[in-house]
Amino acid sequence: MGGLPRRPPARSREVTAVGSLAHRVGHLARRFAGSWSRAEPAPDDLAWVAVQLTPGELALWCRMTVADRRHAVEVARRFVTRRPGATREEVAGALLHDVGKVEAGLGTLARVAATIVGPRTRRFRLYHDHEAIGARLAAAAGSAAATVELIEGRGPAAADLRAADDL
Ligand SMILES: [Fe+2]
Repeated sequence: MGGLPRRPPARSREVTAVGSLAHRVGHLARRFAGSWSRAEPAPDDLAWVAVQLTPGELALWCRMTVADRRHAVEVARRFVTRRPGATREEVAGALLHDVGKVEAGLGTLARVAATIVGPRTRRFRLYHDHEAIGARLAAAAGSAAATVELIEGRGPAAADLRAADDL
């Protein structure tokens, strides 16, 4: 039969939405335990970051919370393991993939709330839009197109970044 494309029944859409929310909350919960620590990334990690980022990108990276900086290093290290031929621009994208969260300025508990209730307030919306915001910040800092694209979740390295981030 022709006509409009068929949408899945409402019940199945709900199950998919609940499954995806559970996945995201689970991801956040795994990060939750380490999020209270005020420890900076290790000195050799910081030295590696400084080599990978341009001065403008490094200034941007330093605006992230310490928990996000540690997360960025962990994700970027896993990203390089998955993608040994990653370019410097791609590694910069991995290190800055969550930089857009600086504009929402949410703490750990508020991030959990934002994930559960969705983009209902201005700051929750900023948190949910962090990929686009991060891409804009990186472009303004002079990042290469490949870096901006990866922060937006697009391009040839996007699947490797998602896998490195999604533990
Ligand atoms: Fe992340």
